[in-house]
Parts: sequence; structure tokens; C-alpha cells
Amino acid sequence: RLGSKARDAGYRLAGFDTIGSTNSEALAAAAAGDPGGIWFAALQQTAGRGRRGREWHSPSGNLAASLMVIPDASPEQIATLGFVAGVALNSGLSSILPGGMVRIGIDGADGADGRSRIALKWPNDVLADGAKLAGILLEAAKTPDGRQAVIVGIGVNVVAAPEGVPYPATSLKALGIERSAEDVFEALSDAWVGAFGLWNDGKGVSAILERWRHSAAGIGAPVAISQDGIVRRGIFETIDSSGRLIIRDDDGARHPITAGDVHFGAT
Ligand code: BTN
Repeated sequence: RLGSKARDAGYRLAGFDTIGSTNSEALAAAAAGDPGGIWFAALQQTAGRGRRGREWHSPSGNLAASLMVIPDASPEQIATLGFVAGVALNSGLSSILPGGMVRIGIDGADGADGRSRIALKWPNDVLADGAKLAGILLEAAKTPDGRQAVIVGIGVNVVAAPEGVPYPATSLKALGIERSAEDVFEALSDAWVGAFGLWNDGKGVSAILERWRHSAAGIGAPVAISQDGIVRRGIFETIDSSGRLIIRDDDGARHPITAGDVHFGAT
């Protein structure tokens, strides 16, 4: 079910128990002329897609949700929508957590007090205690009248973390948080309304990026970024005004990164 803010803002929901990929449903809706503002949500996907052509494992009880939006914004601004999703996930998850169990907005490291830390990992992941809890996949489509539609696909490991993936992964259940995918979606759909509203109102991109940076994992620490077999190492300095990751190398030179896989702690 949609949250009340999402309903009041006019969003619609098509819910499924099992579907191939909610992103595919959303792409089809864009191509079929849907006016936008529609979520496709499923409790299980049989052909979930991840970033960079990877599979996304979506077993029963996890959340798979895709929003189709047709933003009235420049291509440069539209390119920052993934950060809106990150901010919405961060605040949506924080709103359903039992008091004090997981603190949001602290860096990705484990806390000495034993509480889990949730953080955003550039470009499009959510981490809890350094392990992946959720991922975001953006896809683009054209509407029949030539406008740009964006599909914001969000997968949250609610009851199960994928096995056999080449990175640490976790789930809300593994963190001791027993909430349903429906609860997570309700909170997420409401949090999206707030984050998208901020982004959509002129100063929005800088406001969203500021919030994103505030919850980012690894700023100020060593990172290695790999893309197409090339690895660049340095200090993760910040995210710039268009959402690029800025890395500072040993010689003090700064390099903007637009895509790649980030590994923390590598020097
Ligand atoms: C990633 O981290 O690689 C992104 C994962 C995105 C998964 C979501 S689940 C809902 C939507 N439908 C898909 O097929 N993929 C996205």
C-alpha cells in the first residue's frame, strides 16, 4: 500500500505478489503513455535486474519497487534523480526503525555502541554496517509524445540478503528489524514525496546533494574505484554539484568520477 502522503500527492500503485521485474513493468507503462507518478511494487521478482547488467536477487518477502516519473527538468537535473532515491530510502527506512536501533546519517563504520549504521554508498547503494541493504537502478524511457520518463527501481533486502554475491550484503531481518516489505514500501513511498518535492523546487539539486553527502559512507577516507578494468585510488573528497564523486590522488590532483564500483578502505 501507498503511504498517505503519496496517495494525497496523487501517486498510484500497481502491486504484485510475483513479477518478472518491476522496472520492466514501469518501462512498459512509460511506453504505453501512462502520465507518470505510478509505482510498481512486488514481493518477489523472477527476473530482477541490478546495475551494470547484473542480476538482482529478489526472493519472496523482499521489496522490489519501481517508480515511473516524467520530470519537468533539464537532462542534467534528471541525472541526479538517483540521489533523490537515496535520500528517500534513508529517511523512509529511518522512519520505520524501532527507536534507536539503527541510526541514520552516520558513516558506514560499525559503531562502538553496537547499533547499526545506515549510510549511502555512491552512486546508488544503501549500506548498513558496511553491508549492502538496498540498491537503486535508474532506467530511462521515452513517452509516446517524446518526453523523458525515468524509472527509479529500488530493491530492499527485507527478509533475505543475496548469497554468493561478491560484496557483503545484509537484510533488515538480519539487523534484527522485523518489518514487512509492505511497511517498508509505505514508508518509502511517503519519503519519496518529501525528497522529490525538495528536488523539484528550483534549489532542489543542491539541497538533495547536501542531504545525500550528510549520510554518505566513506567521505574523507581512501577509496578505489573500478570501471571497465581501470582502477583509480585516492581519497574520496566529496560529491560535486552534479553528483560526481571527487577523488584526490597522491599528487593532490582531483578527478571527477561519473561511474564505477567503489571499494572503501583500499589505498
Ligand atoms: C543494484 O544495486 O544493482 C540495483 C538493484 C535494483 C533492484 C531493483 S528491485 C526493483 C527494480 N526492478 C528491477 O528489476 N530492479 C530494480
